Amino acid sequence: MRHLLSAADLSREDAIRLLDTAAQMAATQSREIKKLPTLRGRTVVNLFFEDSTRTRISFETAAKRLSADVINFSAKGSSVSKGESLKDTALTLHSMGADAVVVRHWASGAPYQLAHSGWLGTVDSPVAVLNAGDGTHQHPTQALLDAFTIRRHLVGRAGGAGRDGVGKDLTGLKVAIVGDVLHSRVARSNVNLLHTLGAEVTLVAPPTLLPVGVESWTCATSYDLDATLTGWCPDAVMMLRVQRERMSGGSGAFLPSPQEYSRRYGLDKRRLGALPDHAIVMHPGPMNRGLEISAQAADSDRSVIVEQVANGVAVRMAALYLLLAGGSSAEGTSL
Ligand code: NCD
Repeated sequence: MRHLLSAADLSREDAIRLLDTAAQMAATQSREIKKLPTLRGRTVVNLFFEDSTRTRISFETAAKRLSADVINFSAKGSSVSKGESLKDTALTLHSMGADAVVVRHWASGAPYQLAHSGWLGTVDSPVAVLNAGDGTHQHPTQALLDAFTIRRHLVGRAGGAGRDGVGKDLTGLKVAIVGDVLHSRVARSNVNLLHTLGAEVTLVAPPTLLPVGVESWTCATSYDLDATLTGWCPDAVMMLRVQRERMSGGSGAFLPSPQEYSRRYGLDKRRLGALPDHAIVMHPGPMNRGLEISAQAADSDRSVIVEQVANGVAVRMAALYLLLAGGSSAEGTSL
């Protein structure tokens, strides 16, 4: 694999290799000197056409911890705001000698376009493209960091698995993904990856926030959060942000009032109390506190939200390492 475009492209072996490599990377991050020489002399470009805090900083930190040079490009303040096309932007980056491009774009499919257009290099010397979120489509490194976090907390609870569940998948675990599934690339990527890793997933949302065709996804669906929490007893509950910026035409079409949404689909103190003792609470950020998640739930001792952010660096180090340094040069790099 030359690029990381979609969680759906990852085989179980690819995903386990990424997670195990991330565990090794995480171990290096508790050392006093966190920097590894692995990608010295290589250039990673962060190409962000959409706002981001966590993901951009996380990719930047990951590349720097591997000693790569990092160029940050955000559409605001660049010639993109003068109407420069993705193609011309890509040609510019290629001529500057980028080895990997991390791209976030509002258009679903933009990373595929970059990876397969030839704008970033020839078939023999391609530039690795890593999808950092495209439209409502995919966000594979978020799904990987979520799987990594779930594995750390929940695999091998009863003993058996090695440290952090290394080498293990997520068979037997149950994950509820709750909220604005319709607009969420995080939900799509997680449904793909969690299924590949053997976990069961239930999506919980009002009918207006579930996409058409969700019946064909590799997961169950429910409109009833309380019934899912108490009847199905998930091991992890992943809350999704209500993405008001993608609700064009007014939020009225998608949501009842915010109060009603919170009442029916928000994770609050009462619902937290209904979870099994070992269950963890997740959120990809940024959170709408008081809407999809209450402050008590976000800050409770079951919340692993801050850890997700830390794990993101290790997972992105693993992805950059495996794509840029981890394979045989004859066949290009491979995961
Ligand atoms: C997510 C995203 O951008 O898709 N956030 C993130 O990457 N940390 C989820 C969201 O914006 O709600």
